[in-house]
Amino acid sequence: MKVLMLNGSCKPNGNTNRALLEVGAQLEKEGIEYEIYQIGGKPVRDCIGCGKCTESGCVFTDDGVNEFIAKAKAADGFVFGTPVYYAHPSGRILSFLDRAFYSGGGAFEFKPGASVTVARRGGNTASFDCLNKYFGIRQMPVAGSTYWNMAHGRVPGEAEMDEEGMRTMRNLARNLAWMMKCFEAGKNSGIALPDTESGEMTNFIR
Ligand SMILES: Cc1cc2nc3c(=O)[nH]c(=O)nc-3n(C[C@H](O)[C@H](O)[C@H](O)COP(=O)(O)O)c2cc1C
Repeated sequence: MKVLMLNGSCKPNGNTNRALLEVGAQLEKEGIEYEIYQIGGKPVRDCIGCGKCTESGCVFTDDGVNEFIAKAKAADGFVFGTPVYYAHPSGRILSFLDRAFYSGGGAFEFKPGASVTVARRGGNTASFDCLNKYFGIRQMPVAGSTYWNMAHGRVPGEAEMDEEGMRTMRNLARNLAWMMKCFEAGKNSGIALPDTESGEMTNFIR
């Protein structure tokens, strides 16, 4: 089984990456593979609501969104990590995930997820709430930890000194691995996915 992570910082070796590495190292101890997908520093487009999403994802092909969707199809769980910018997630991770979920949301359904945030000082819980909303709209169970999944640090690598933050990451990995193993055991014993009801979107209360 594999967890696909997303680093929403333009810094591939910054604090968000450090927190994700802590999750990943513990996942490996639990027998779960992981990969950190780096959004990087190149421009990331916003969703323009064109509604022309295709089988392979978004119509825009000049950034990593469609590649991420393809990887998501093969993954069994997710961790989305972001630095805190003005008390919210980075703009690039929101643009990236809006398009990934709008055009390729089926790749994430019924697979557990968790979000991780890193800040110098404030805005972690608001950013954590924001990222967790992607899970709720795609029938994704959310893994928790022994605190909200956050760490503190400013310059790259500083988050490693946040002992409780790093412990929270390791416990998150333990819980995510446990959930994934339970789901796998359920699938192997014949428990089917929920029979989701669909219907017309009402848009407003009539
Ligand atoms: C544009 C910008 C806005 C930021 N806003 C906040 C903030 O609201 N609260 C905070 O505690 N830190 C803030 N920071 C600091 C970063 O969250 C912090 O340095 C974090 O460790 C960066 O993670 P990274 O190394 O993965 O990029 C901000 C940094 C930048 C560049």
